[in-house]
Amino acid sequence: MKKVCVIGYPAKHSLSPVIHNYWLEKYNIEGSYEIREIEPDKFDDFFLNLHKEGYVGCNVTLPFKEKAFELSDPFSFTEKVIGAVNTIIIEDGRYVGHNTDAYGFIKNIEKSSKEFDFKKGAAVVLGAGGAARAVINSLLFKDVPEIILLNRTIEKAENIRNDLHVNIHKNQEFILERLKIIPWEERNEALAEAKLLVNTTSLGMVGQPELDINIDKLPKDALVTDIVYRPLETKLLNQARERGNPVVDGLGMLLYQAVPGFELWFKEENVEVTPELRKKVEAML
Ligand code: ATR
Repeated sequence: MKKVCVIGYPAKHSLSPVIHNYWLEKYNIEGSYEIREIEPDKFDDFFLNLHKEGYVGCNVTLPFKEKAFELSDPFSFTEKVIGAVNTIIIEDGRYVGHNTDAYGFIKNIEKSSKEFDFKKGAAVVLGAGGAARAVINSLLFKDVPEIILLNRTIEKAENIRNDLHVNIHKNQEFILERLKIIPWEERNEALAEAKLLVNTTSLGMVGQPELDINIDKLPKDALVTDIVYRPLETKLLNQARERGNPVVDGLGMLLYQAVPGFELWFKEENVEVTPELRKKVEAML
């Protein structure tokens, strides 16, 4: 029986077991997916011995995503730019680290908004944390013509550009020209040409301050999405929906980021995010 776990601290409220146990049952697979809450000073030891305990892989959540990146082989360029991984595949004692947030972000938009075309116009990205790195990386490779990046601490936005620069192939340097960094104070005006607005900050999440933004200048056909999914409809999404913008909530990103891990651990193809699964997870929020 294949064993997988999610490692975090705290981890008790992780929604990942609901998702993976749903698929284990749906696809009739003998396997297990459990929560392992590990104190930070015990992480390295626990992580590096997973294969000895019979695990075929794991998910890694806060605060261990960067640590897991350091302790595993990055799967691709994406992981190097993000500098963090959330999914580990163990094969013959080798740990390969994937970051599936970028995949989850794009899939969520593609599945929720079939007619959306990434190539059609600029994307405005709010925030420059780990989630923003995944979002920016995936947008660049979806051929978004321009990304306007805003963050309260502008140095963190510049760090993302530098990390892209270091990791990018020489023949891909043109994509850096598409990343434009502007001050956080200019966020209301920055929306005027956008076809996509993404909040990757923690603002608007239950227990956090609201995101203070005026979206009057945003074109009415621009898609608005938030990676925050508690609450499911953030104030940003609510304002956007009320003025007629198409909106995509953040829960889908959580659901789709789980797909690649499940497929690789359990050798299952075409794993689906069904309405039934979404309902189950929504009930836990
Ligand atoms: P994650 O890795 O989940 O993206 P993070 O690295 O803590 O989390 O990033 C949180 C993001 O929310 C950052 O972009 C942060 O801005 P700073 O880089 O300036 O810290 C943003 N954020 C958090 N609180 C904020 C606030 N009160 N105003 C503006 N931005 C805020």
